[in-house]
Amino acid sequence: MLKGFVFDLDGVITDTARFHYQAWSKIAQDDMGITINPSVNEQLKGVSRMDSLNVILKFGQRENDFTEAEKEALATKKNDYYVQLISNMTPADILPGIQAFLDQLKAEGYQMSLASASKNAPRILNGLQLTNYFDQIVDPASLHAGKPDPEIFAKGATLLGLKPTEAVGLEDAFAGIQSINGAGEFSVGIGDPAILNEADLNFTSTAEISLDQIKTAFATWAAKQ
Ligand code: BG6
Ligand code: MG
Repeated sequence: MLKGFVFDLDGVITDTARFHYQAWSKIAQDDMGITINPSVNEQLKGVSRMDSLNVILKFGQRENDFTEAEKEALATKKNDYYVQLISNMTPADILPGIQAFLDQLKAEGYQMSLASASKNAPRILNGLQLTNYFDQIVDPASLHAGKPDPEIFAKGATLLGLKPTEAVGLEDAFAGIQSINGAGEFSVGIGDPAILNEADLNFTSTAEISLDQIKTAFATWAAKQ
């Protein structure tokens, strides 16, 4: 029986990818001499802060040029700039269709948790005025491995007291869909179905999300589990 929803944040609830990109572009250029591009940005989605830095250093062929302490300082500098960029977020930054979807889930009594790799997630939910919708938030600092490892989505369900087969996970990144599937939950992809081709159900954008369609597809999937 469907009892709860485990949400990714960036790209599902709000579009922070552009701010991550803006912050990384500046630090990469100013402090590493690396010019990143949108295809590098794709590789940063869903990936932790330090892993993002490693992706950029590898892209710039500079992976051996910085000490761990220097890398920590670069990641902190990127985050300080990113925090400035997200400091003015308001409910106007919620992606289309999401507020209505969350209201519907709340009205129908579903539990909700957040499974974001971002340590800034509580701050962002606060700016969006969505904190009260979420019963639990997975602390990414508590994880052993990030997406595509199943741990974060598995935890998103167990924190709600749910079995994997009672939960739906929502994601815009391929690594996130792999995490949901690995956790044994029903996966809903938001974005290009050719990229999110392992999702159990796909919507091309948040504006298309339909709880009725999720319920129908979930029932077919659950019958086979
Ligand atoms: C994810 C983003 O949600 O959070 C990644 O998709 C980001 O791009 C990661 O690197 C970590 O975010 P933060 O806010 O902890 O640096
Ligand atoms: Mg995302």
